[in-house]
Amino acid sequence: GTRRRWVERRHDIDAFTPGLLSLYESLKPSEEHKAKQRQLIESLTKSVIKEWPNAQLHLYGSCANSFGTSHSDVDVCFEIDIASEDTAQVVLTLAGTLHKDGFHNVEPITSARVQIVRMTDPGSGFSCDICINKFFAVANTKLLKDYAQIDERLLQLALIVKHWAKLRGVNETFRGTLSSYAYVLMCISFLQQREPKILPCLQAMEPTYIMVVDGTECAYFDEVHQLQDFGAENKESIAELLWAFFHYWAFDHDYRNDVISVRTGNTISKQEKNWTTRVGNDRHLICIEDPFETSHDLGRVVDRQTIRILREEFERAASILQYDDDPCVALFEPY
Ligand code: CTP
Ligand code: MG
Repeated sequence: GTRRRWVERRHDIDAFTPGLLSLYESLKPSEEHKAKQRQLIESLTKSVIKEWPNAQLHLYGSCANSFGTSHSDVDVCFEIDIASEDTAQVVLTLAGTLHKDGFHNVEPITSARVQIVRMTDPGSGFSCDICINKFFAVANTKLLKDYAQIDERLLQLALIVKHWAKLRGVNETFRGTLSSYAYVLMCISFLQQREPKILPCLQAMEPTYIMVVDGTECAYFDEVHQLQDFGAENKESIAELLWAFFHYWAFDHDYRNDVISVRTGNTISKQEKNWTTRVGNDRHLICIEDPFETSHDLGRVVDRQTIRILREEFERAASILQYDDDPCVALFEPY
């Protein structure tokens, strides 16, 4: 359930905006970082094209959705004309090729839900995940990138929240906390629900972009240059928004009943999604609907123990932003 608790926002919260903005600037990847990424992508493509001449490369994740930081890895998806049941074999072959071509720590991962090759680029030291034909990831990458172009406060909020999550140890899906992707969706959903709104709901508008993935239509309004002034009426600063974001997740979100949904621009009920009972390992303790694969709850990795850790971290962050004299230090203190 919720612990709805009304806290009046501290009157001097905006004093922390300059500090948060310089943190944000320092998190954005440098030109040098981006150049190294391009080099990695180039040598990777050369290597793959030898084996699969018709392969097409798509970038996904934070190297393409604009939510990357100077600590982000590189996520690459190859479009290769193969039957999906042959993916494991292709992943193994690809791993062999990359190893031969001098990439480091090449590791085929065929047991996970998404089969990938993981490796390190010896030139840059970047770690790189390569998947095959995961077009939902390519589609949601474009959606996130388009949202990022509407109001810069989304990028500011999301990079700061991702930074916080990494330092506080709550950005580790293998340990039962949330992915970076989940945090970005939480930020988008939050800004869609500000009053006045800072972000629109692109999937609720007349579609100008349609991509069909595995029979599912991924459609939304993508002419975002027309929406440059969308959030202008809302004057909230990044400090106010960060405060409100953590207060929402600490005290206002209805964990028992609600699902956050970027697709609808609103919260919807667990009842409606049939996410009320535990099925297998999916516990639905914090519910974040994937915008295109709507049966996916990005919170499904969270269990009884990690939901406690997450909520304690949200409460810790909220109270630091409320009471601390120098919140930017305590907030990002490594756990
Ligand atoms: N993804 C997905 N479904 C998930 C998790 C991830 O579709 N349950 C896809 C998304 O396209 C996401 C990408 O995989 O952008 C990479 O996920 P993740 O590593 O969580 O996000 P990044 O944005 O790459 O973050 P980081 O900077 O931490 O690498
Ligand atoms: Mg990534």
